[in-house]
Amino acid sequence: MTRMSIPKRTAEQQTFPGIDLDAQKTLPLGESKYASSERTVDGVGPTNLGKPIRVLVPDFSNPKRAKTCLEVDFPIVPVNALSKLEGNAGKPIYQMSKWWARRRSSVFRAMLIAAAMQAPLRKNPDGSSAVDTDGIPLPDETESARAVWDVYYANHQKAGSFKHLKVLDCFMGGGTTLVEGSRLGFQVAGVDLNPVAWFVVKNELACADPDEAREFFEDIESEVKPAIQPFYATECPRGHGGRWYYDGGTEDPSDDKRMQTDFDPLSVAPEERKQYRYEGPEVIYTFWAKHGMLTTWVRSQNTHLPLSCDCRKEARS
Ligand SMILES: C[S@@+](CC[C@H](N)C(=O)[O-])C[C@H]1O[C@@H](n2cnc3c(N)ncnc32)[C@H](O)[C@@H]1O
Repeated sequence: MTRMSIPKRTAEQQTFPGIDLDAQKTLPLGESKYASSERTVDGVGPTNLGKPIRVLVPDFSNPKRAKTCLEVDFPIVPVNALSKLEGNAGKPIYQMSKWWARRRSSVFRAMLIAAAMQAPLRKNPDGSSAVDTDGIPLPDETESARAVWDVYYANHQKAGSFKHLKVLDCFMGGGTTLVEGSRLGFQVAGVDLNPVAWFVVKNELACADPDEAREFFEDIESEVKPAIQPFYATECPRGHGGRWYYDGGTEDPSDDKRMQTDFDPLSVAPEERKQYRYEGPEVIYTFWAKHGMLTTWVRSQNTHLPLSCDCRKEARS
């Protein structure tokens, strides 16, 4: 390494006027000059999506270590854009409980990566690493934000770059930092004086068996759905109603008896409604229809069309 005095450069944070929030491929900070980042196989979608890319982590026990990306710069523009999108999208793991002022996980993912990852180093014209007067490697300020964004979508848990690092959040709240840390493959621990925070985070990070959860859900659904189904039955926007059937006592639904069109399921006591089943437009689909979903589905004759009303027949004819 050659020791020399180099004037500090400031990174120019790129701005993206009129950034198109719908197309994620417009979000990355452009190509890195180190160009290690490979695109997804088909060239579409975020850079390095799901790839187990190992990143350089400084030796935190060394007082002369190189700086982390977070100590140098942060990809604020694409992370802001992504966080705006995330604000409108529910993420199952964070939906297990209401938590006020829930932080945007994209911001915390980016911060954790930036805090653990060594910043790209500045090179002297002769190709050697530039160091300051104490012999500490100088970061390349123009590349640090880009380096973080290049690996934002990578699979760091699989790569194992952070597995020896510990994240402690001593004010863990709803657990965003810990959940994101765990997803990135850090060891995580948290503390909070609020027992609700403890309960929420403990369950967010608990192992769950998807089959067991599905079974549990189906149990609840089989109890609750028949009782509340009448409140969801409706007409589609074209005026087609649904049909009610009485259980024919076999596994075959064609054995079920079709009820008269004037059948009122609310005249049946809630505990007896299990004998009846409904096929047809439901309130949620009508709501979507008003916003265009039904039109699209009917036009494309999508087999997942959730309606069993006459719209489906019309779509096929
Ligand atoms: C804004 S939340 C923290 C969010 C969290 N760091 C995250 O990544 O999502 C602040 C939390 O600090 C907790 N808190 C405040 N004072 C505390 C204390 N003295 N000891 C432990 N927790 C505390 C509060 O109960 C609250 O849940």
